[in-house]
Amino acid sequence: MNAAVPFQAMAGAMPPQDLPQAQEPSAARRAGEVILDVKNISLAFGGVKALTDISFDVREHEVRAIIGPNGAGKSSMLNCINGVYQPQQGAITFRGQTFTHMNSRQVAEMGVARTFQNLALFKGMSVLDNIMTGRNLRMKSNLLLQALRVGPALREEIRHREFVERIIDFLEIQAHRKSPVGQLPYGLQKRVDLGRALAMEPQVLLLDEPMAGMNVEEKQDMCRFILDVNDEFGTTIVLIEHDMGVVMDISDRVVVLDYGKKIGDGTPQEVRSNPEVIRAYLGGEH
Ligand SMILES: Nc1ncnc2c1ncn2[C@@H]1O[C@H](COP(=O)(O)OP(=O)(O)OP(=O)(O)O)[C@@H](O)[C@H]1O
Ligand SMILES: [Mg+2]
Repeated sequence: MNAAVPFQAMAGAMPPQDLPQAQEPSAARRAGEVILDVKNISLAFGGVKALTDISFDVREHEVRAIIGPNGAGKSSMLNCINGVYQPQQGAITFRGQTFTHMNSRQVAEMGVARTFQNLALFKGMSVLDNIMTGRNLRMKSNLLLQALRVGPALREEIRHREFVERIIDFLEIQAHRKSPVGQLPYGLQKRVDLGRALAMEPQVLLLDEPMAGMNVEEKQDMCRFILDVNDEFGTTIVLIEHDMGVVMDISDRVVVLDYGKKIGDGTPQEVRSNPEVIRAYLGGEH
């Protein structure tokens, strides 16, 4: 994502509030190069097989959903991609470079950011300072210079704060910029978490249930922001979501997991009519 231009360009150019209608993926998305390649990933915790031989790819600029019943392995998959978990088998490559044994910071530095199923924000800190933590990765001055706030460190901090202000404008949370995050409604806290991830200027954004616990209006807002990030900045999105309406509406392709295995992969329409997927969701086993 180009840092300066898109956020400025976004100001005052928001699309309508309504959820977008289901669409065929655009030609650009269909033709996108593979940016993230997950090959034969297996992950176990003692005797619990969280993931078994999972393979799928993510193309540049697409919205790729991961769905599946509770405990299917969705969050574990994101944790493998962003270096929180080290899978016992398989490989993950990003633009041809292998990720598998990198830690979270190294993965983030390569351009992959994420939000968390359970918010990982500093509740007592302001919205602005929370989003600023996403910029740490991009700070060049050492900690001492930052603490003293002198010379180049001060100029750098000003630049980063300007960037964060643009994210705050983009996410329409200007009125809350100085509020402690813990005092905001849950839907806005999720938006701040998205802002923190955007502050890292990711090429790929991993979203773990960004709409969980939201009311309809908050979900519509979050869908709009996700699609705006995808459209305006070209950011590739990998999205875990339980709300099937949202998945069908905003994703280009969907991976379906069940008990740690992949049982479906295709367009929303293909996945919706896949008998194994229907059985997993309707079979009553979960
Ligand atoms: N750190 C861990 N230690 C032990 N077991 C774990 C750990 N993380 C996940 N698991 C197990 O791995 C399996 C997959 O869990 P995961 O959280 O990835 O599922 P999920 O699809 O994200 O579920 P949900 O929809 O409830 O968020 C579960 O059986 C879970 O208990
Ligand atoms: Mg999960």
